[in-house]
Amino acid sequence: MRGSGILVSCLLVMMTGILCRGQNDGKMQWFKDAKLGIFIHWGIYSVDGVDESWAFHNRKMPYDQYMAQVKRFTAGHYNPDDWVHLIKESGARYTVITSKHHDGIALWNTGENDRSIPRLAPAGRDVLTPFVDACRRSGLKLGLYFSLIDWSHPDYPAILKDSVRYKIADDSVRWNRFRKFFQGQINELVDRYNPDLYWFDGDWEHSAEEWQADKVRNNILKHNPNAIINSRLTGRGDYDTPEQNFPVSRPDRAWELCMTANNNWGYHPDDVQYKTPYEVITLFSDIISHGGNLLLGIGPREDGWIPDQQVHLLKEIGKWTHKHEEAIFNTVAGLPYGHYYGPSTLSKDSTILYLFVPTQNRGSIYLKGISNKILDIYVLGTDTHLNHKIVGKISWSPVPGLVFIDQLPITAMDKYMTVLKIRLEGKLKLYRGKGGYN
Ligand code: GLC
Repeated sequence: MRGSGILVSCLLVMMTGILCRGQNDGKMQWFKDAKLGIFIHWGIYSVDGVDESWAFHNRKMPYDQYMAQVKRFTAGHYNPDDWVHLIKESGARYTVITSKHHDGIALWNTGENDRSIPRLAPAGRDVLTPFVDACRRSGLKLGLYFSLIDWSHPDYPAILKDSVRYKIADDSVRWNRFRKFFQGQINELVDRYNPDLYWFDGDWEHSAEEWQADKVRNNILKHNPNAIINSRLTGRGDYDTPEQNFPVSRPDRAWELCMTANNNWGYHPDDVQYKTPYEVITLFSDIISHGGNLLLGIGPREDGWIPDQQVHLLKEIGKWTHKHEEAIFNTVAGLPYGHYYGPSTLSKDSTILYLFVPTQNRGSIYLKGISNKILDIYVLGTDTHLNHKIVGKISWSPVPGLVFIDQLPITAMDKYMTVLKIRLEGKLKLYRGKGGYN
C-alpha cells in the first residue's frame, strides 16, 4: 500500500511549533514582548536642526559654531508627560533617549564635567530626570542612549574626521583619565536612573579592551542583573542593533532595528522625506514576523516641540497597533519562509497564527505546509469570519494541502494592514519537506 510506504520514506520535517517558543527568556522577556520602542534624539543639534554631532565632526560646520547652539537650547515648551503620552499612544512599550550624544553634552546634571544642558544652556536645568520620572509614572520601559565617543572631551583622542588630539599608544595616562571620566558618567546613570536598557553607541572608535567593555558591562549588571544592554558595547550586549538597514534573513538572536521617521535622527526641519504610516506599519509587521523590535526615531526641537509629521506618524501607527494589539505584543516570530507570502506572528502557545495582509492585496491568500486543522479565520477588529478551502490534499499522503482563504471583503479591510487571526487545532505543525510521490 502506498500510504504505509510514505510514512517511512517521505521526507517529512515536522516542526511542532518552533522549539523553545513561549518559554521564559528571563530578563529579555519584556523586551521581546514589547516590539515597538520610540527613540528620542534631543540635544543642542536640535537648535539649528543640524546633524547630531556629525555636523562638526564631518566638517559641515565649525566646531565652535556647532557648540554655540547650546546658548539657545531653552527646553521652553518641554513637557515630558506629553512626550510619554504620545509615545504610549503609538503603542510603544519602551523608549530610548539620548542622555549624551557624541558631542559630549549631557542632558543631566553630570558631576564629571561642565558640559551639560543644566550648566551651559538657558534651559538651566536637568532635562533628563523629568523624562525618566514621567516614564516611570506611566509604566513605559526606559532606555538610556549613551555615546562612548565624546568628541568634545580634551582627553578623548578623536575630534574631527581627519584630526585626532593624540594616540592612545602615545599617552595611556591621558586615555586612562578619559576612561575614568566616561565610566564615571555611566555610573551616574546607573545610580540615578537605573534604566531598564542601556543603549550604547560609538563603540567603533576603540576596541573592547580600550573601552574596558567587560568592566562596563559587569558594573551595570552588578547594580541591576536585569538590565539589558545593546550590542554596541563592542559586542558585549544582549541583542543586535541593525541601523536603518533592513535584515533579509531572520536574525538568530534578539534584535531591534532602529530607524528614523524621515532621514535624520535629530530635528531637521529641512528634511521632509517622511516614511508614510503604511510604510512604517509594513516594515514593523515584517520585523515582528522575524522576532525583532522596531525602535522608531523622533527628533524634538530644542524647545521640546515635536514636529507635526512625527506626531501624525506616531498617532496613525497607534491606531493600528491598538486595533491589532493581540497579533503584535506578546507574540513570537511567525512562519518561516515558504509558508505564506507575507508577515505573520504566532501566539506564544503556537495555537494561533496571525497573518498580515497589506491593504492592496485582496487576491488569493494561501498557506502551504500547515498540518493543523483550521478551526476559524477571523479579521481582527471586525466581526468578519472567513471561510477557507483545502486544495490539493492527497488522501494517502501526510503532506498537507494548500489553504486558500476567501477574499477579504473591502469593508473588513484595515486602512493600512489587515490582520487575520487563524485558530488552529493544537499547536502549529509545519511540513517543511520537498513534496514527493510515494
Ligand atoms: C549612529 C550615529 C548616531 C545615531 C545612532 C542611532 O551610530 O552615530 O548619530 O545617534 O546611530 O542609532
